Amino acid sequence: MSNILVNGGLGFIGSETVVALINSGYNPIVVDDLSNSKIAVLDRIETITGKRPTFIQANCTDYAAMDKVFTENKIDGIIHFAAFKAVGESVQKPIEYYSNNLKSSLTTLELMKKHGVRNFIFSSSATVYGCAKEMPLYENNETGDATNPYGETKVMNERILVDVAKAMPELNIAILRYFNPIGAHPSGLLGEDPNGIPNNLMPYISQVSIGRLPCLSIFGDDYPTPDGTGIRDYIHVLDLAEGHVAAMKKLESNSGLVIYNLGTGKGTSVKELVKAFEDANGVKIPVVIKPRRAGDVAENYANCDKAFKELGWKARFTIVDACRDSYNFQKKNPKGIE
Ligand code: UD1
Repeated sequence: MSNILVNGGLGFIGSETVVALINSGYNPIVVDDLSNSKIAVLDRIETITGKRPTFIQANCTDYAAMDKVFTENKIDGIIHFAAFKAVGESVQKPIEYYSNNLKSSLTTLELMKKHGVRNFIFSSSATVYGCAKEMPLYENNETGDATNPYGETKVMNERILVDVAKAMPELNIAILRYFNPIGAHPSGLLGEDPNGIPNNLMPYISQVSIGRLPCLSIFGDDYPTPDGTGIRDYIHVLDLAEGHVAAMKKLESNSGLVIYNLGTGKGTSVKELVKAFEDANGVKIPVVIKPRRAGDVAENYANCDKAFKELGWKARFTIVDACRDSYNFQKKNPKGIE
């Protein structure tokens, strides 16, 4: 059985991926510093899968602590989620963002080299495409010019990985560019649990749905889109998790460096997502129209043919499934995971 080191494995996408790995016969070894996740997630992974993964509380920038993880475990592959991810905060704290998000991946890559691990998956983002003029986005589009330091750390990490792959062709590296992850585990045990007021649309809608927040602000209804609100490619987190398993299998075939969009290929507007949430759950979401949010683009959605052709992966769940699962998680965890 392959041992997969999952850095940041107790977060929203990481925890779901740990479940998917276990269900596919892998043995995940989870590292997380709990800076933006809860230890209770580990119990919940065990409840869902019947298996408690090995867990080490450590910060991925801590070379000595991570060296110990690599020394004490035979590691066959790595999935690297561990990073700061709040766009607005990254504008206020660029030093912290560049330092953490680059050091955590670089430390992991140094140790990967030292310990002879060959398979590495990196969590990237659609944000690397910047303000592209044409949709959908293809993997070979130009990248760079992200609108904020968080996004720049994704661009820089991708650049580092491309150079590493050139210098060490024996490595297999997958860069996965996520579009907008939403939804939750259907059990209601795992889901998105942001600290403070949510920045992203789906957690905001679900907190409004249970009365924790009074009303959703729609940031702009004057975009050049059919209903004037921003269009994104929302993907169920369970599909995203399966994408990691498919990518790990691809690496095991000695793929070298590969890059995939993980999205649905379909754009949904803010108003459409709100309506889908209301219809799926029989609730009303009060909304107010506000000015556009700085840094937002009108449209952002993927072409996902490459992942389908090369990984045999495509998103299976709908927006309605994701709305139902997000609401279920929110109802069962009104104050988040405790
Ligand atoms: C953002 C980040 C992206 C990151 C992703 C994580 C930017 C430019 N991009 O994507 O890098 O990977 O989060 O999921 O910030 N909206 C509202 N009201 C709200 C919140 C959002 O109307 O309260 C709208 C936004 O204007 C946008 C859409 O909902 O049109 C989606 O926003 P959000 O969930 O924040 O994701 P992105 O901005 O697409």
